[in-house]
Formats: sequence, C-alpha cells, structure tokens
Amino acid sequence: MNNGTLLEVNDITVEYVTQGQRFAAISDVTLDIAEGETLGLVGESGCGKSTTGRAIIQLPTPTAGHVKFEGQELTGLTHNEMRQIRQRLQIIFQDPVSSLNPRRRVKDIVAEPLIIAGNKDAADIDRKVREVLNAVGMDPDITLDRRPHQFSGGQCQRICIARALIMEPKLIVCDEPVSALDVSVQAQILNLLEDMKERYGLTLLFISHDLAVVKNISDRVAVMYLGKFCELADSERIYEAPAHPYTAGLMATIPEIGDKAIDSGPALAGEIPSPLNPPSGCRFRTRCPQAQEKCTAEEPAFRDIDPGHQVACHFPLLGE
Ligand SMILES: Nc1ncnc2c1ncn2[C@@H]1O[C@H](COP(=O)(O)OP(=O)(O)O)[C@@H](O)[C@H]1O
Ligand code: SF4
Ligand SMILES: [Mg+2]
Repeated sequence: MNNGTLLEVNDITVEYVTQGQRFAAISDVTLDIAEGETLGLVGESGCGKSTTGRAIIQLPTPTAGHVKFEGQELTGLTHNEMRQIRQRLQIIFQDPVSSLNPRRRVKDIVAEPLIIAGNKDAADIDRKVREVLNAVGMDPDITLDRRPHQFSGGQCQRICIARALIMEPKLIVCDEPVSALDVSVQAQILNLLEDMKERYGLTLLFISHDLAVVKNISDRVAVMYLGKFCELADSERIYEAPAHPYTAGLMATIPEIGDKAIDSGPALAGEIPSPLNPPSGCRFRTRCPQAQEKCTAEEPAFRDIDPGHQVACHFPLLGE
C-alpha cells in the first residue's frame, strides 16, 4: 500500500443476471483513493456508478477483483468480519426519505449503528446522537423524538449523514446524495459534506450523474461509460482539458462550463447501448464523433497519457 492510500480497488467486475442473461454491469474497474481525498465518479444513468460504490462496501462482493481498505483485503471476508469494517466504511444514498425507516424516531435511527455495534451505554449513545445531529445542523431537542416524514428532503439527508457519521467512519460512499433534492438545498448539503469532511477527517467517494455537482467537491474525477472507466484525472485537468471524447461531450452539456469544452461536435448524440450487448472495440464508438476504424476493431486500454491522467481512447483529445 502506498503512503496515505486508504482504498485500493483492483480490476473489479460485477455481474448480474437479467432476462436469463448474465452480463457485466461494471468491468475491470481500478481506482485508489488517498486518505482525506474526495474522488468524484460521474457518468450517465445506468453506467455502473452505484454498482461500483456498492461493490466497494461488498454489497454485494464483486464477481472478480480486489478491494483493499486500510490495507486489508475485503473480498472473502465473512459476514461478521465485514460488519465490523462497515462501521468505518459508510454509504449514503440518493433518496434520503426512503432510506430512513418511517416508523422509527430520529434518535433510534441515528443511534442504530452504535447499537448494532454493541454499545449498551444509554448516556453515551444519547451524547453521541446529540453531537452528530448538532454537527449536521439539526437541533437535537426538536429532532430526537420526531419521525422522518416530519422533515423535508434536505433535513432527511442531514439525518442520514448524521447516522453515517456516528461511527466515525474513514470513508463515506456518497451515492448521488443531492440528486433528489431541490437545487436550492443541494448547495447546502454539499457545503455540509465539505464541513463534515474537514471536521471528521473523512475521505469521500462522491457519485453523481452530474459533472457540475462533482466539480467543486472533488480532488480528482473518474468518468464512467457503460460499465468501464474512460477517464480519470485531477479535477482541474478534467474540466479544463478533457481528453476522452465522452468527457468532452458530457462537459458540453453543462451550461456554465460548456464554453470551455473542446469542440467535439454534437454533444452526446445517440442512445446508450445495452450493457447486455456492448459495442465491439471501444464501447463509446457508436456515439463518438471521433470514431475511426480502429475503434471498432480494438478496445482501447485505460492508460496514462500524462502522470496521474488516465484515458481509454485510441485518439485522445489534446486540448488547447
Ligand atoms: N440488482 C441488479 N440486477 C440486475 N441488473 C442490475 C442490478 N442493479 C443494477 N443493474 C444494472 O446494472 C447497470 C448499472 O447500474 P447502476 O450501477 O445502478 O448504474 P448507475 O448508478 O450509474 O445509474 C444498469 O444496466 C442496471 O440496469
Ligand atoms: S477509442 Fe475511438 S470511439 Fe472510443 S472514444 Fe476514442 S476516438 Fe472515440
Ligand atoms: Mg446509481
């Protein structure tokens, strides 16, 4: 393990069976996240972002490949061993309202991870629940005895974040944490995550279908298409000079950074192919304005085009 590497994901593949056919929802995904870093993961709906996030926390264990967290291999651990580790490896989801049990009170919802972990000290539990609710900007005296339906979507996401924080995790997988919220509330939750990151020394995998959302929060950004990574680089690099035609196409759809996008022709025309039957060669070729013969015949390797900048394309864009 490198100095400071918290998570190492090597060549993971997750297969599902649908309509009697086995297919790879993600293939050969490799990434690492340094302690304290935020890695953004973007791509259109269905490209495998949630599958990647869930495979990291072994829900379910990937079909192939390796996941190391704090130097420990997670694939192959027993259910009980994994339960211990999951305390330090939390996940928050897109729809905060449905990820909270409607029949339980907030104090029980937020305390649940502590209780599962075997904490029986009522005073300690109460103190910790109050502390995390305060941290996420919810007044414990007003919140503790209420149930989720008495709160807005943004407040419910704050409660979900409090529940994730109570175990003092190292890594939080944030799976589209603001996508279900009103635009005005999105910024508040993003700011809260940044504050919590600082205060609790967190490392984040931040998933979104929206490049604009991950822009400010991420140190590096990975772009995914049809189950595979197509580009990974520092945030600035990816937004200033995307090298993969798919990244450039996504960029062109964001109004405020669209002018900066490289002229890659019409942005993202055409349908996303089915993952049950991905195109030969480069899986983006059916939508790529740059596609050439080689792209049909040969799959591009995910390779370094510069230190720290990886791209899966035979003809990467050169920028400027
Ligand atoms: N439990 C499942 N069974 C079968 N197919 C699934 C399952 N979960 C996701 N998929 C499929 O796997 C692909 C990736 O899905 P997902 O990881 O949810 O994408 P994203 O989060 O990027 O929208 C999609 O084609 C989706 O339909
Ligand atoms: S390999 Fe070819 S089809 Fe694929 S992104 Fe690059 S230019 Fe486009
Ligand atoms: Mg998803």
